[in-house]
Amino acid sequence: MDAPKEIFLKDYKMPDYYFDSLFVGEEKTIVSSKIIVSPRIEGHSHPLVLDGRDVKLLSVKVDDKDLKAPSGTFTLEIVTEICPQNNTSLEGLYKSSGNFCTQCEAEGFRKITFFQDRPDVMAIYTCRIEADKTLYPVLLSNGNLIEQGDLEGGKHYALWKDPFKKPSYLFALVAGQLESRDDTFITSSGREVSLRIWTPAQDLPKTAHAMYSLKAAMKWDEEVFGLEYDLDLFNIVAVPDFNMGAMENKSLNIFNSKLVLASPETATDGDYAAILGVIGHEYFHNWTGNRVTCRDWFQLSLKEGLTVFRDQEFSSDMGSRTVKRIADVSRLRNFNSHRSYGTSIRPHSYIKMDNFYTVTVYEKVCAEVVRMYKTLLESSGFRKGMDLYFKRHDGQAVTCEDFFAAMRDANDADLSNFLLWYSQAGTPNVKVVSSYNSEAMTFSLKFSQGVPATPGQHVKEPMFIPVAVGLLTSSGEDIPITSVYHDGTLETVMENGQPVFTTILKVNKKEDEFVFANIAERPIPSLLRGFSAPIRLDSDLTDEDLFSLLAHDSDGFNRWEAGQILSRKLMLSLVADFQQSNPLVLNPKFVEGLRTIIRDPSLDKIMDLMEVADPDAVHAVRSFIRKELALQLKEEFLSTVINNRSSEPYTFDHENLARRALKNVASVCPFGELTLDHPYLASLGDEELTNLALDEYKSATNMTDQVAALAAIAQNPGLAREEVLLDFYQKWSDDFLVVNKWLSLQAMSDIPGNVVNVQNLLKHPSFDLRNPNKVYALVGGFCASPVNFHAKDGSGYKFLGDIVLQLDKLNPQVASRMVSAFSRWRRFDDYRQALAKNVYEIASKSLA
Ligand code: PHE
Ligand code: ZN
Repeated sequence: MDAPKEIFLKDYKMPDYYFDSLFVGEEKTIVSSKIIVSPRIEGHSHPLVLDGRDVKLLSVKVDDKDLKAPSGTFTLEIVTEICPQNNTSLEGLYKSSGNFCTQCEAEGFRKITFFQDRPDVMAIYTCRIEADKTLYPVLLSNGNLIEQGDLEGGKHYALWKDPFKKPSYLFALVAGQLESRDDTFITSSGREVSLRIWTPAQDLPKTAHAMYSLKAAMKWDEEVFGLEYDLDLFNIVAVPDFNMGAMENKSLNIFNSKLVLASPETATDGDYAAILGVIGHEYFHNWTGNRVTCRDWFQLSLKEGLTVFRDQEFSSDMGSRTVKRIADVSRLRNFNSHRSYGTSIRPHSYIKMDNFYTVTVYEKVCAEVVRMYKTLLESSGFRKGMDLYFKRHDGQAVTCEDFFAAMRDANDADLSNFLLWYSQAGTPNVKVVSSYNSEAMTFSLKFSQGVPATPGQHVKEPMFIPVAVGLLTSSGEDIPITSVYHDGTLETVMENGQPVFTTILKVNKKEDEFVFANIAERPIPSLLRGFSAPIRLDSDLTDEDLFSLLAHDSDGFNRWEAGQILSRKLMLSLVADFQQSNPLVLNPKFVEGLRTIIRDPSLDKIMDLMEVADPDAVHAVRSFIRKELALQLKEEFLSTVINNRSSEPYTFDHENLARRALKNVASVCPFGELTLDHPYLASLGDEELTNLALDEYKSATNMTDQVAALAAIAQNPGLAREEVLLDFYQKWSDDFLVVNKWLSLQAMSDIPGNVVNVQNLLKHPSFDLRNPNKVYALVGGFCASPVNFHAKDGSGYKFLGDIVLQLDKLNPQVASRMVSAFSRWRRFDDYRQALAKNVYEIASKSLA
């Protein structure tokens, strides 16, 4: 019923939309709306169909009379009644901690009033809010505050008008007891913008980093894209109950508190980084999403891909580009296995918007597609494309083809079949074979590509893949590249008359060969530098080549990647040994390689590479490698811990982030969010090292160090674990964001039979099934545990199945995000497949 294709009514446009009044009250909320409707084509006879869900219609008037629609422009007045206090879906108008707030993307507006709730219906909104003045002293909506005043009976009102046309999904309203941190930003053209971040009074001290992030984002968008903020006021409101991370409503961004509130004592480096990125993301939507919006929801990647790309670039410029790229690509790969099952970044159909947001590679792959434009056109060409995009489409609702056309036309570029990235599902598999000809002094790279068949798309066409390549000498120096043969012609690849060290090969045939000229020795190719395309690459690099890249590549990303490939190889061969009950022995070369390098791959990536994932084998091998490395590299790890301690006050900058990350990987936990990666030293579980972690825990002056130490101690069952978990809870029971870390840490634990602990935690006073953050921490955390979620007795799957059925009644969007944990069942062995399939089908049927 909600599919946009069915509600096809392009003939109407609503240039003016007016919330005559919106009365918010404790029992019912009355919404009166006044819409000026004009036909797009004069004299047609199409009916006007409006969307509405869970709203009680009180009255409808057309031009102040009965319901007959006149043929020209007319005024439609609708009064509805809704109950935000009972709205647990957190879509439409709902209550969070006593305050009213809205979430309208994608189809929440229809839960407030009847409307053509689709993104190509753009209108000017005026909104008048009335409410009790003591209970709801702050009344906010989009745009500018035109008027406010007191009313009889202890009430007051506020009238807001947004001068920009917008789709209904960007409408927002907040009413509640909030206070603000205020600041100003002077735009490059000299306008002063008031910035306000709203939270309950006691949280205001924790908004400093959010304000810093907002101002940095505003400045960055001016410098990099010449984009200035377009109103005099920008509001951010933090609410504790929110399905997603945040929402880019015009001039009134609403955030999950988790992505606003931070102090060194309560937030980790990962939290600080996430806040910077998401504040940037929502702010950047003002141009990419709001000023230029999507024609329909199939174009979601138009705004999300571009805006995620922009926030990634922003975070890179604010910190370390390589670290950021590694983090983004790791996340993309964990996520990417969904995509192999047939969702392209622009699907052809969907049943339910909830699933669309979770199953589509809404967050990440689409940003990679945008990144490829930049790789192909370079920064300056990309900027020209953006400028043309805004020049052509400001104020419009457009498609991915429009963005493509702007990029192409601004650069006069031949982008060939690039658009396939939007329609063709599945990750391309690319194979490279290299050969060196010493007589001709040429080095050849032969690519062959294939996209696996996906449901409904059996025959695939070759894609247009930018492959960034550099060549290294045997001692690790970059080789200057001057010219490359391709398709029988010799192309010079110099820049300003100078040879380059990285060149972009445009692979777009099933088989494509590139030959580098003037290469004096057999080079080691550094392929797909910076992960220049979202593909799976299989090369003929030897272990020796990989060790050399690991040690010397001038591309930081590829140094890390070489380490990844080496450890994957090592793990795969150990998994095979484990499955055949052979003794496990760690390759000494690898240990040596690792003496110089740090991280290791996440479990999911390994599982992705295995034909049939075997969680038990992966877990056993992983623990073995970890312990073995800790044992053999104990001295190095210990000195890493000691050398990277600091007594300085917490600062969020690259140097300190890197220092804490190193210390915590060695002793305790890795960089960023809590993950499955376990600290090395603590994996030995001996008393000396447990005491080291306890010391780290007790002496920690910030949450990054504290939670990392806690995680280290908590990985080994026993008294120390119980005591330290209790201590942490008692310390932080008043801070719900910190308590969520405590929940997720226990949920993710590998300790045997953990499902029982998680079931008990569901009954813990700190847990509430209606709060999405708590569900993501506890239930989501559990589903990330390879051992307990995938337990052979099926207890993990059953647990999730039961929860999903309960959740679906309260909040379908959160339920559907949790169901996605099942989506990998196809990869597991027969036994687990059967288990998961059963539960998945029951759970997903109830959601469809
Ligand atoms: N559009 C939001 C963002 O970019 C994400 C979101 C989608 C939020 C759907 C709520 C509902 O951050
Ligand atoms: Zn977004």
